[in-house]
Amino acid sequence: MRSVNASIPIYREVMAGRRTNLALLMVLASALLTGTVAFASGTAAGRWVVIAHGVVGLGLIVLLPWKSVIVRRGLRRRRTRRRTERWTSVGFGVLVLTAVVTGVLHSGWSRLLPGGLTTMQVHVGAALAAIPLGVWHVVARPVRPRRTDLSRRTALRTAGGAALAGAVWLSAEALWRTTSAPGADRRFTGSHEVGSDDPAAMPVTQWFTDRVPRIEAIRWRLHLTDGHGARTLALDDLGRTDQVRATLDCTGGWFAHQEWSGVRLDRLVDPAGGDSLLIRSATGYTRRLPIEDLATLLLATRVGGAPLSAGHGFPARLVVPGRRGFWWVKWVTDIRVDSVPPWAQPPFPLT
Ligand code: HEM
Ligand code: HEM
Repeated sequence: MRSVNASIPIYREVMAGRRTNLALLMVLASALLTGTVAFASGTAAGRWVVIAHGVVGLGLIVLLPWKSVIVRRGLRRRRTRRRTERWTSVGFGVLVLTAVVTGVLHSGWSRLLPGGLTTMQVHVGAALAAIPLGVWHVVARPVRPRRTDLSRRTALRTAGGAALAGAVWLSAEALWRTTSAPGADRRFTGSHEVGSDDPAAMPVTQWFTDRVPRIEAIRWRLHLTDGHGARTLALDDLGRTDQVRATLDCTGGWFAHQEWSGVRLDRLVDPAGGDSLLIRSATGYTRRLPIEDLATLLLATRVGGAPLSAGHGFPARLVVPGRRGFWWVKWVTDIRVDSVPPWAQPPFPLT
């Protein structure tokens, strides 16, 4: 039989493993939360969430030496683990690692990967795919929090870990700057500049469920429903009296400053009695915006002095300064003022 003393190192290892797994759980949950908020944020105020996401994501690297002990021990336990469980854990590990590597790749170097996918597509795809495997991993190996987890010592350790993760983030930023890597100039959202004041060089991207439609100017109609009732306008009815310089910042990881011209929505739409504006595209894609935003919205028909290209929303697209690209509905065919609250929609488009 083992003596109590001989089992102490094993006991310590198990304890340290428990706390490492608990820390990983917190870090992963925070990475998913901050990543999602970072994805939605379009103003400079959101900068802190993007920075927090970088720090939290890199925090996984800080925990790696401790976790690698647990992983090696777990993989050695052939008798107690079923094969599927082990492969689920390994798959989970590969996906989380992919998220970390593509996150750093995007931040430092490139928004594009060989083969045509964007670094962000793989980053977010790997993170989302990791969720079910992570839930399985944790449910099969529950970690019971203890009262001592809230001790002063744990608080100090957490602060130490956070400081280390912050130092890794600062080192990465310093590296991008000293090596003049593309990531040195990225925007506060993490996006890279592509095609500013050169619309032809601006990437064509839409929500992953959407496709570029070919629309003939002569056949296109805008259906408006507002305080005046319902009416239909043709392209020539719109005019291009208004111009705005605004930044299109796509969640695909790029941004561009452009001169957009068209008609301000407050010239076109009567907001009476409405709480929100439902904007629909020819493809069926919709977004709902608060009625108070009306004066800041432009229905653009031109960019950089020329008509929009099909990929950029011909014949008319929305310009929504301060919001990410998925709000800038392209190929607009319907604008409706109604009393549905603007928050009554998923935070990200589903179709
Ligand atoms: C970055 C996140 C994580 C990754 C990549 C990861 C990956 C792995 C891998 C590959 C193993 C070894 C194979 C196995 O035993 O199934 C393992 C073991 C283990 N993981 Fe995780 N894990 C993560 C987070 C967590 C979390 C959040 C928990 C619990 C809350 C957890 C609990 C455990 C436990 C208890 C073991 C040891 C199993 C044993 O020794 O028999 N892990 N992990
Ligand atoms: C498993 C979950 C995730 C992990 C471990 C993770 C990790 C990381 C890491 C390490 C970086 C690079 C940070 C840097 O070098 O400054 C990063 C960047 C980024 N991630 Fe994630 N991430 C996760 C999920 C997500 C999700 C779900 C989203 C969005 C829906 C997201 C959006 C972003 C964005 C926009 C950046 C660029 C930030 C910048 O360039 O400063 N991430 N992520």
